[in-house]
Amino acid sequence: MPKQILILDTTLRDGEQAPGFSMTVDQKVRFARQLDRLGVDVIEAGFPIASQGDFEAVRQIAGIVSQSIVAGLCRTRRGDIDRAWEALQHAARSRIHTFIATSDIHLEHKLKLSRKAALKEAVKGVSYAASLTADVEFSAEDAVRTDIDYLCEVVQAVIEAGATTVNIPDTVGYAIPLEFGEFIAQIVDKVPNINQAVISVHCHNDLGLAVANSISAVQNGAGQVECTVNGIGERAGNAALEEVVMALKVRRDFLDYELGVKSEEIARSSRLLTRITSQPVQRNKAIVGENAFAHEAGIHQHGMMQNSSTYEIMTPESVGVAKSMLVLGKHSGRHALAERYRDLGYDLNRDELNRIYSAFTDLADKKKTVYDADLLALVESGQGSVEAVYTLENLQVASGTGVTPTATVRIVFNGDIFEDSAVGDGPVDAAFKAVERATGVSVKLEAYHIDSVSAGKDAQGEVLLRIEAGGRSFAGRAASTDVVEASVRAYIQALNRAASSGVVINKERDNDDTVGTLVDAVSPVEEVDYEFH
Ligand code: KIV
Ligand code: ZN
Repeated sequence: MPKQILILDTTLRDGEQAPGFSMTVDQKVRFARQLDRLGVDVIEAGFPIASQGDFEAVRQIAGIVSQSIVAGLCRTRRGDIDRAWEALQHAARSRIHTFIATSDIHLEHKLKLSRKAALKEAVKGVSYAASLTADVEFSAEDAVRTDIDYLCEVVQAVIEAGATTVNIPDTVGYAIPLEFGEFIAQIVDKVPNINQAVISVHCHNDLGLAVANSISAVQNGAGQVECTVNGIGERAGNAALEEVVMALKVRRDFLDYELGVKSEEIARSSRLLTRITSQPVQRNKAIVGENAFAHEAGIHQHGMMQNSSTYEIMTPESVGVAKSMLVLGKHSGRHALAERYRDLGYDLNRDELNRIYSAFTDLADKKKTVYDADLLALVESGQGSVEAVYTLENLQVASGTGVTPTATVRIVFNGDIFEDSAVGDGPVDAAFKAVERATGVSVKLEAYHIDSVSAGKDAQGEVLLRIEAGGRSFAGRAASTDVVEASVRAYIQALNRAASSGVVINKERDNDDTVGTLVDAVSPVEEVDYEFH
């Protein structure tokens, strides 16, 4: 029987710890549900000692995940392990993942420990973890740059101490596939008790070789691959889950291994992560990029029409990209909408359905056809429960050839309506400046990305952006058939995130003439929920 390769997903730990990818506890829980559905064997949910938020996320995820093992990362210190176990202990299936660096570079410059002391620490940590649970993973951080004989000594000792998985990370993405495969083969050869544990690999992508290294390790005895959706992670990221999984599935003729992952859930997982983090994947990204199944060149289209295997080595359906995306029009009812959302994986409650239905009918008035992607943009821009500190009431923009772009906004804040105008380099710039004046809040725009949600001239534009406020980064996302409006709504969503976290301080309106003019008090019936428009 072919060997089973386990997939450990660390999107919520290694992925989330990378700059620009932080998630709230609610977002992590939402993503963990999707990982469970994707069928990953292990979900590494966080690093509980790192922060109260990380602890809470691991604790909540441990409570809701039904199939996957939930893992929490910890150093080898007793306090770290206790905290991880406190978060994990109620999971249906849990794993303590403890680590210490083993390379001389890390021992000398970071830990100031001798090899002997690090080995002792590793054994102590693993023994303690094994006294709490039977499922213990040990990682030798920077294993690839560790002396192989010392590494083998550590691996043997931690297995004796109770480790059931031993992880060999390429922490700095330094390895070359053939070399890494041989490295794993040497561990298999030299560690006498290696059969009592699963060998795991965790490859970073600094040289763009993380997936190739992971596959090479599998060919040489690794039984678990650690990876992240969309390949997010520290620096250049981790091995991309979708690439590892599809390489193993598509090339089953050459790589005869079993996998538990349901590849049909890959596109949904990738999309959900993109929306949660407001970080799009590159268009030509393998498996999940927008172009992965697009065929532009005439000769390719011709071949595809005869037989799709001419230019496709896997079907879009096999990764969950639906062929027919045309769904609903303006006469579709609530029931049809709820049904379609169920197919897309969303069970909406009555309130959610009511709000989304109203946004849907507004959209269907503007667009002839509403695609799955439009529906996803509607539902996902409404999730994440951002408190509406600022609400856009009205936006007017004037721009064109030979015209200085000008924007006027009305913003509701604390029950009052503030209005202001500004000029800018373009209509979006003018609108952002008008928001800045109306709210009295000045922030730096870190990233701005716009894409069409679906096909056609009436497609919605979806804006993903990030602002920097108080040294922190906040994401915003919105879709509309008017791209300036989508930009402003995304900008205000990010401002609301910053304001809810207490990092945006309003300028004093009374003595600062650069801030918006109070024009009215809002009446309760007029209040709008911009998230769903
Ligand atoms: O890259 C790394 O070495 C890690 C370990 C903590 C597993 O993330
Ligand atoms: Zn890592």
